[in-house]
Amino acid sequence: MKQESGALLSAIKLDRESRRSISVQLYMALREIILSGGLRAGERLPATRVLAKETGVSRTTVIDAVDRLVSEGMVVSRIGAGTFVSDTLDSQRPAASAMVDPAPQDAKPRLSGTIASGEERYARRTWLPHEARAFITALPALDAFPMAHWARLSARHFRGGRGAVMGYGQPKGLEALRRAIATHLGALKGIRCNPEQIFVTCGAQQAFSLIGKLFLNGGDKVWIENPGASGARNALLSEGADLVPVDIDHEGIVVADGLAKAPGFRLAFVTPSHQQPLGHVMSLQRRFELLQAVEAAQALIIEDDYDGEFYYGNAPQPALYSTDPAGRTIYVGTFSKTLFPSLRLGFLLVPERMVDAFERMFQSWASGPATATQAVVADFMDEGHFATHVRLMRRLYKARYDALMEAGRTLPDTMRLQETSSGFHTLADLASGIDEQAVVTQAAEKGVIVAPLSRYCMQPIERNGLVIGFGSAAPEDIKRGIDVLRDLPALRENWSG
Ligand SMILES: Cc1ncc(COP(=O)(O)O)c(C=O)c1O
Repeated sequence: MKQESGALLSAIKLDRESRRSISVQLYMALREIILSGGLRAGERLPATRVLAKETGVSRTTVIDAVDRLVSEGMVVSRIGAGTFVSDTLDSQRPAASAMVDPAPQDAKPRLSGTIASGEERYARRTWLPHEARAFITALPALDAFPMAHWARLSARHFRGGRGAVMGYGQPKGLEALRRAIATHLGALKGIRCNPEQIFVTCGAQQAFSLIGKLFLNGGDKVWIENPGASGARNALLSEGADLVPVDIDHEGIVVADGLAKAPGFRLAFVTPSHQQPLGHVMSLQRRFELLQAVEAAQALIIEDDYDGEFYYGNAPQPALYSTDPAGRTIYVGTFSKTLFPSLRLGFLLVPERMVDAFERMFQSWASGPATATQAVVADFMDEGHFATHVRLMRRLYKARYDALMEAGRTLPDTMRLQETSSGFHTLADLASGIDEQAVVTQAAEKGVIVAPLSRYCMQPIERNGLVIGFGSAAPEDIKRGIDVLRDLPALRENWSG
């Protein structure tokens, strides 16, 4: 027994650098030993003195760890006899056979028809970024976020009344946040709306899904920009959409192409303020064409305004929503760029005639983000931190954009950066003959991330290019990133000039 417990204890690894206390680590290690059968029901734990000696920690620390096991019911203390693994552990633990999946390990689960039939068309999103560096897309300047204000507001929220802090929140979103969003949309884009028309969601992707759930029948034709946003593509596929890739030119979605391919469409997904990923602003002419096509087909529009706050000219691009008198456009916004993506916070602005339908959906089953998150964001907006942060970030992204364009002048002729007037990504055109994927791979080997344009395409297009994010990296990193790209062999191979 002595030897056995010695072997058991030698399996305990404590990390003094960890943010977890030693007593919690010890508690977790002992728990793991018990649950994996290293100590069985009724067996005695080594004495606290032995545990302390073998693991090199104080007895107080061991007692604290054992107390946690006692209060959890995992072990019981008997005065004068020691501490034993609880008998209930064996009597109540599910039988081994019930814990093993009876299906053969390689048997695939039977998927719903919608998911199975769309499987080939999903964009894989394993590349979603979390670490700032050149030239990651979709990540804001995490280094410039005012963490101190955020922490203060979070702490203040948790000191509030328990019902407000811990109870079920309002299904369509916290009223204070919906009011703040309505005010923000008025100030940013001159959109006049009532907070009742705002529904708070877990990011833009959930908003796209909810629109699909509410309005799509399986197999309905949905126009999707090609190239276009992969997240929206996936969300709408999951709701049974039959996606129709529609061409993009410098004026935005080519409505004539959509009409030729699917005149009887139900929904069109567009990014009019800043086409994702090509960066064009939808022309007024195109906006009217789209609205007419939508009216004729009795269809709807999703307007995804994912980075509308970050414009470098005098004014932001107008919202399609405001030009649509028939109330067929649903506007979707996100806090993933203005604040940070892990919040999972976005919103829908729906035409008045749709409020009841969305209301019913949110009250019945759609549930939004944590109340705490919503309350902190509402305070952040009400106290002016949001407007200040957006203003500062507009300046910072412009500076990072300028650094990119300046450094980009030294790139070889095979790679040309496209100018942009908003957001924090732009396109780099590659000369024909240059292998997009080879550039991506060689850049990644040197620690620089660029996204191939083909990743955004449901159907291949003639254009060859890379999407370059410049929001999350400091100007020095941007410059270093360009230095790496400039020297890639793939930018010189197979090109005759
Ligand atoms: C086109 C587009 N829309 C919306 C979003 C934001 O999505 P979410 O709010 O779910 O993070 C992104 C994120 O990169 C995007 O690229």
